[in-house]
Amino acid sequence: MGIASLRKQALDEAESIEDVKQLESFRVKYLGRKGELTSVLRSLKDLSLNERRSLGEEANKLRRDLEEVIDFKHKELSAGGKEEIIDITRPGKKVQVGHLHPLTRIEDEIKEIFTSLNFSIVEGPELESEYYNFDALNIPPAHPARDMWDTFWLKQPKNAKERRLMRTHTSPMQIRYMETHQPPFQIIVPGRVFRYEATDASHEINFYQLEGLMVDENISLANFKFIIEAFFKRLFKEKIEFRFRPSYFPFVEPAVEVDIKFTTKGRGEWLEVMGAGMVHPRVFEAAHLNPRDLQGFAFGVGIERLAMIKYKIPDIRMFYTGDLKFINQF
Ligand code: DAH
Repeated sequence: MGIASLRKQALDEAESIEDVKQLESFRVKYLGRKGELTSVLRSLKDLSLNERRSLGEEANKLRRDLEEVIDFKHKELSAGGKEEIIDITRPGKKVQVGHLHPLTRIEDEIKEIFTSLNFSIVEGPELESEYYNFDALNIPPAHPARDMWDTFWLKQPKNAKERRLMRTHTSPMQIRYMETHQPPFQIIVPGRVFRYEATDASHEINFYQLEGLMVDENISLANFKFIIEAFFKRLFKEKIEFRFRPSYFPFVEPAVEVDIKFTTKGRGEWLEVMGAGMVHPRVFEAAHLNPRDLQGFAFGVGIERLAMIKYKIPDIRMFYTGDLKFINQF
């Protein structure tokens, strides 16, 4: 038998070896004292120099290969076939790691910008009382402005002293913070808010807001303009055009809405991004501060709205679908 067919026969046979005993008979059969390959090797000395050279080379290579196969099989079988043979030349598997949701990313970025402007970050409860969400913010029960916030009311326990709700905005933290801190201070309040509304591309029943409040003896809208311009510049990485438009919120006077100029296809469009104004004297009074000594500005902005502008996201509902095709783009 030629070396090539001997090689094929041996390697085929090696494939079906199932235990150490079979492996040993395999070794004896080919490499033992009277083994098939051994006799070939032994007969080399009777050949002519030329034959010896070519056949010898082939036969010796087969011997080395079979030794290697036996060695490998031996390791595999003596480990009961259980131990994994590590092939260090195999390409690695990519480890899938998670990443931050776009809303978390932008919230972190916003917090960093305001922290660098010397604002502190505080948080408040999502389940609020009617008092903090409305009354203390100068929105008494019969006030028509309550219609601005469609509210999820909670079932009230019998003889409850106050009605409870899911906060419709982060503004109640203005009161909670001022009740327990003396000015001057400057804070931001990121948090989840709830609205009992039909959803569409720009409305969700829950979303995130960021409230801002700065109070001292001599604060004016000019301070607000400076802070908000610095904020926009850093968040959107460019100088953007914005304007104040007169508006109405019961807890500020004067009240403004801030619009950002958004240029699409060469056409500029004003997009409303936040409400703001100078803290109303009644709000200071509700927090037991004297409005004659103090002034402050407050603002409230939708975090999704900012993310939609920054990342060009057309529909607010995308944030909450959990769709990986969307999430993985960030
Ligand atoms: N809380 C308002 C809202 O949810 C937004 C807002 C407007 C907050 C004016 C403010 C402000 O602090 O001064 O619609």
